Amino acid sequence: MTKRSMKFTYVAKTALVTGASTGIGAVFAKELAQRGCSLILTARSQERLNLLANQLQKQYKINTLVIPADLQQPTAVADLVRAIDQQPIDILVNNAGFSTHGAFHTIAPEQEAALIQVNVAALVALTHAFLPGMVERRSGLVVNVASVLGFYPLPYQAVYSASKAFVRSLTEALWAEYQGSGVQFFALCPGPTATEFFQRMGKDLRMQKMSPEAVVRFAFRAMERGVPWGIPGWQNRLLSGLLPAITPRPWLLQQLAKVSRRLYGISG
Ligand SMILES: NC(=O)c1ccc[n+]([C@@H]2O[C@H](COP(=O)([O-])OP(=O)(O)OC[C@H]3O[C@@H](n4cnc5c(N)ncnc54)[C@H](OP(=O)(O)O)[C@@H]3O)[C@@H](O)[C@H]2O)c1
Repeated sequence: MTKRSMKFTYVAKTALVTGASTGIGAVFAKELAQRGCSLILTARSQERLNLLANQLQKQYKINTLVIPADLQQPTAVADLVRAIDQQPIDILVNNAGFSTHGAFHTIAPEQEAALIQVNVAALVALTHAFLPGMVERRSGLVVNVASVLGFYPLPYQAVYSASKAFVRSLTEALWAEYQGSGVQFFALCPGPTATEFFQRMGKDLRMQKMSPEAVVRFAFRAMERGVPWGIPGWQNRLLSGLLPAITPRPWLLQQLAKVSRRLYGISG
């Protein structure tokens, strides 16, 4: 991976974090507050956002603004942009996301459409909304939370892994497009992380998970190196970077389907 060292200055910048009510997004909010950023926090759970915003405001003496939004709604991004009301966004953390699971034909199409709306369409729309200002100011940072599943498709989480492949691919392209513009892009590609993600998916898998704190600390270190993407955790790097590169694709896909069937208790 080509590296381009870049030290971003966080003090007195404004960051918009989606999915900030819990998990990886909430930890991003804390780390950014600690670095002196003002925060705009969004997710659906207003109470949790208010609690976090108040705590960070007190602890780090930063400005915070909570704007609840349901990114499943096609008009949510336009409403969010309107509520932000021309405030310059220096850092955009596109983190909100969720997964469906199961055999493709058994999943409600509306659920998959909602997933695509949150994981993909809202991320693209928010990037469109705030990138022009960053380019104009010749300064900005866009963090897109992808997944190790951006490197290979996981059968029985097919639409989710496709959404993360989209996010990784988009971020890499934009990383290259905006070289030298002062705007940095980074795709964070975590493996299993101990958040509410699996409960929300309806399957809390018993497997080793990284803490969201370790994942986000890794992200800040990787971003300093100016790389387009990063996978936290050496086991994840081994599984997601190396394995797909050295194994025949049909074999890999069959093994992944087997593992997935076992994890999700799917017969076949
Ligand atoms: N945990 C993992 O193993 C893992 C691994 C790789 C990648 N990721 C990615 O990491 C990101 C963060 O996930 P997490 O692990 O922190 O999961 P999480 O604990 O479930 O948090 C998900 C966040 O997204 C928000 N969100 C979900 N649906 C939304 C909607 N319709 N509108 C607005 N906000 C919505 C949630 O807030 P509300 O419910 O309040 O709206 C919450 O703040 C996601 O993109 C996920 O795909 C997670």
